[in-house]
Amino acid sequence: MRPKISIIGAGNVGATAAHWIASRNLGDIVLLDILEGIPQGKAMDLLHAGPLAGFDVSILGTNEYADTKNSDIVVVTSGIPRKPGMSRDDLIATNAKIVKEVTEKVVKYSPQGILIIVTNPLDAMVHVAATVSGFPKHRVIGMAGILDATRFRTGIAQELHVSGKDVDAFVLGSHGDAMVPLPRLCTLNGKPITRLLTPEKIHALVERTRKGGEEIVNLLKTGSAYYAPAAAIMDMVDSIVNDKKKTLCCTVYCGKEYNVGGFFIGVPVKLGKKGVEEIIELQLTTEEHDAFQKSLEHVKSLVNAADNFL
Ligand code: APR
Repeated sequence: MRPKISIIGAGNVGATAAHWIASRNLGDIVLLDILEGIPQGKAMDLLHAGPLAGFDVSILGTNEYADTKNSDIVVVTSGIPRKPGMSRDDLIATNAKIVKEVTEKVVKYSPQGILIIVTNPLDAMVHVAATVSGFPKHRVIGMAGILDATRFRTGIAQELHVSGKDVDAFVLGSHGDAMVPLPRLCTLNGKPITRLLTPEKIHALVERTRKGGEEIVNLLKTGSAYYAPAAAIMDMVDSIVNDKKKTLCCTVYCGKEYNVGGFFIGVPVKLGKKGVEEIIELQLTTEEHDAFQKSLEHVKSLVNAADNFL
């Protein structure tokens, strides 16, 4: 039997994730939205692309949670995106209520599933989903670090005129201005970029990574990024359903790891069939450690704010 992947929210991120996931034949897809007709229409349109694009998974659009029953993975993208002038944190009141409601319904039908949370502000929404679901922590994972890292990788690749596939990067911490890109551990074919680029260039690339989402929001004006976020979802789904055990930066529950003390924050993890199978502990320099702690403080303040809606 093929894996079953449900995507809640058939908007820009959700529908594009369905597209990427289908294009890789990763599993049968259920696309659910509160709006009537939208998930059904998008699912049908995507299904019609199958014979041409070379995929043959089933794709169902629906407004009924019963259709998500026994999903292996549920991806939560429902909620509002930001507009120019807004930070991700400004979305918290609206999106906390949506993620709470959606999680309650999802877990009723897929109690053994793995949750991938995408809705922003991400760090707080993962906390909401984990609390409401009561799922073991290794089955609640936020998508953020892969996206931030792919933005960083792309910037480096453009600068060095190489393929982004050959660039490896880690971005830790919260998903926002307090994220922690780690240039020291960023490599091109194993060679540290600190030997290939000037400190000024690296600083500029780090800043552009931090502001990548905002740059796109300001260009789009009506919403936020979705191609790269959806590709990041696909990467996570691929590693889980195919048990690839890839090391990916994700927002996961850290207890004693990185001295976090019980919060969801971005760190490198091994993703496989069981969800988070290992948290990879990198040796951080004092400067990196301090930046990570600052990021953790931001996560804590977001979690406090989110708790008002639980
Ligand atoms: N249940 C199901 N779907 C819902 C609900 C709900 N309670 N509330 C909203 N939705 C749906 C909307 O109807 C819409 O189709 O979520 C979808 C969101 O789609 P978009 O508005 O296109 O937003 P998108 O760009 O996909 O971003 C979604 O992901 O990256 C984050 O910051 C982004 O929080 C935002 C989320």
